[in-house]
Amino acid sequence: MQYKTAQGSEVPDIGLGTYTLIGKECKNTVLKALELGYRHIDTAQIYQNEKEVGEAINLSGVHRDEIFLTTKVWYTNLEHDDVLQSVEESLRLLKTSYIDLLLIHWPNKQYPLGITLEAMLSLKDQGKILNIGVSNFTPKMTRYVIEDLRIPIFTNQVEYHPFLGQFDLLDLSYENNFLLTAYSPLAKGDIFRDATLKRIADEYGKTPAQIALRWLIEQENVIAIPKATSADHLRENIDLYNFELSDSHFEEIDQLDKTRRISNPSFAPDWDS
Ligand SMILES: NC(=O)c1ccc[n+]([C@@H]2O[C@H](COP(=O)([O-])OP(=O)(O)OC[C@H]3O[C@@H](n4cnc5c(N)ncnc54)[C@H](OP(=O)(O)O)[C@@H]3O)[C@@H](O)[C@H]2O)c1
Repeated sequence: MQYKTAQGSEVPDIGLGTYTLIGKECKNTVLKALELGYRHIDTAQIYQNEKEVGEAINLSGVHRDEIFLTTKVWYTNLEHDDVLQSVEESLRLLKTSYIDLLLIHWPNKQYPLGITLEAMLSLKDQGKILNIGVSNFTPKMTRYVIEDLRIPIFTNQVEYHPFLGQFDLLDLSYENNFLLTAYSPLAKGDIFRDATLKRIADEYGKTPAQIALRWLIEQENVIAIPKATSADHLRENIDLYNFELSDSHFEEIDQLDKTRRISNPSFAPDWDS
């Protein structure tokens, strides 16, 4: 596992995504991941699995301070007191006294951002969260938080994989010392159907998943949170540190069409605004 740093905190560059993992399957998968060496887990209030994530962490025998744990406040809980209450509930379910990173899951124009962030800052002051971040924020919204509200963020978690570009956000991350967390880094499985990634994978004796993840984490400010269930997939997705993409292969993946967005719910922001 390798680490990246932002705002003075370190995070493993690969974390386990847990969206759609629920109940026993979630608990067993998180336990298996921790056993295999994962030290970064991504959950959210809306995933309805914080309880199982917490149980797995407690059962694993891995010290809490070795694990980087992220959860997200749902976009209808962004009123000041709802943030405070829903995070208390997350802490209770996760069976932990602190969350390493709390994200606003999706922006919501109904709630003034400054107020939501004020609640998050007070949780940070109390030591209940260690870092503040956002998710699905456009470059303009991200700039507003950093430049107008003057609140430094640890990350913006956004969809990012070989078929979707995030050029503006990456530029912004370099200027402002935050990380880009790539969600759906395997394009929810689409990468396995791409001929270029398959060919490159064969050339290295690796899999398309490993090539896509390498392409992401070789970018200075990028970390990734692939979701996997089977032990083989979990193992494969952290077995990334014994090879490097050549400049020409990296460039070839850069050149793939970058307009395929998978997560675009009705409440998503206007991505070009
Ligand atoms: N902030 C947000 O709004 C947001 C939105 C979407 C996702 N996320 C986060 O990002 C995480 C990852 O994204 P995602 O779940 O959408 O998709 P993903 O990680 O791109 O893809 C997951 C799919 O790939 C399969 N897979 C994983 N490793 C594999 C391997 N080595 N070989 C073959 N197949 C493999 C998984 O199968 P198995 O499970 O069968 O192994 C699963 O079907 C989520 O779980 C969640 O934590 C956040």
